[in-house]
Amino acid sequence: MGIKRLDELTAGTVLASDLKASDGRLLFKADTELEERHIELLKRVGVAEADVKADAGDLSDETVRDIEDYVRDFFLYVDPEFEPSLQMFRIALDLTGSAVASGWVLPDISDRRASDVEHMEDLFLRGMGSPDTIVKHETELASFPDIYFRIKEVLEDESASAERIAKVVSTDMSLAAKLIKLVNSPLYGFPQSIDSISRAVALVGAKELSTLALGISAINYFKDIPPELVDMKSFWRHSITCGIFAKILAGTQIGLSPERFFIAGLLHDVGRLILFKKLPYASTEAMLFARENSIPLVEAERSIMDFCHTDVSQPLLQSWKFPEGLSDMINYHHSPMEFPNPLEPAIIHVADNLTNAVEIAQGGMYVLPGIDVQAWEILGIKADPLLRDAVDQYHEQIDIIMNAFF
Ligand SMILES: [Fe+2]
Ligand SMILES: [Fe+2]
Repeated sequence: MGIKRLDELTAGTVLASDLKASDGRLLFKADTELEERHIELLKRVGVAEADVKADAGDLSDETVRDIEDYVRDFFLYVDPEFEPSLQMFRIALDLTGSAVASGWVLPDISDRRASDVEHMEDLFLRGMGSPDTIVKHETELASFPDIYFRIKEVLEDESASAERIAKVVSTDMSLAAKLIKLVNSPLYGFPQSIDSISRAVALVGAKELSTLALGISAINYFKDIPPELVDMKSFWRHSITCGIFAKILAGTQIGLSPERFFIAGLLHDVGRLILFKKLPYASTEAMLFARENSIPLVEAERSIMDFCHTDVSQPLLQSWKFPEGLSDMINYHHSPMEFPNPLEPAIIHVADNLTNAVEIAQGGMYVLPGIDVQAWEILGIKADPLLRDAVDQYHEQIDIIMNAFF
């Protein structure tokens, strides 16, 4: 936004750079959200102007209308009167408003069409492959990282000591480094820095750390997906964001281990990765179909392929012998009420919707998949201010957590 005179400043304005007094003394650091008392102080010390961040309040009425139209398009599949969807809509509106005020240009609908994909050929055509045969073909071809099974073994062994867990995880240096970064990130918010896996096991808990290690080791399996098919960075950003929200939502429930939810969020769309690998053309078609027609991706997959990514994650996670509770959250994230004990998948379901809502202001191209009223109700929480607080926490965490992974 730039420089504003002191009499133009209002509470809520955010500083773009450090604000200093005329004698060079630091008054407020960059990113401080000014309150009324701060502005009073600035008047007293004689500061004349401040470098402030863009504010959605500065946008013209016409731009505000354009933003509303743009954002509304993503909420076609949710009930606008339903409290959590309304909150998500407002959040998306505010984030998009700030992004536009900072210079982001609302994408044109034609931007949603992707480049030429005609050259791709699928191993399976519609009707020729079922989720089971696709997964069978995949798992026969590629072997799963050995470290995954060693972690699984200690995770299942109730008597495994913390030292043994630390020892197994430490044999994979890159995995250990990721875990150390993660436990030092704001996802945990430990006041002191943690420099060893054994310390991480002691602080986070043996079971929790092994679950994290298991999920992270599974990600490695997908590192060879061709970048022309899908931007893997935004795929993992979507997944990590969902993990952050799932962990926060799980924290509102009694007796749930938040790590499991971070991992379930991280891997919730793992079925899409298998589709990219085995049916690149059909899955790209589904993405285009979803974007062009503003329908949820999961619906587009069903129309193009007759099944969707959760139909594929089911046999896949089974073949990996992935822990059952985690698999259920992943397999039912689009249909939580179909699972006998819907609370856990319902958390991923809501987290995924909120993820899609915050992605709108980042150029996200998919409409919200839809929030199941019953699934929301079993969480027993109030959308306001919980969802907005979760989004604030996400903003503090996402870059650092992304950094831990890539
Ligand atoms: Fe999904
Ligand atoms: Fe998703």
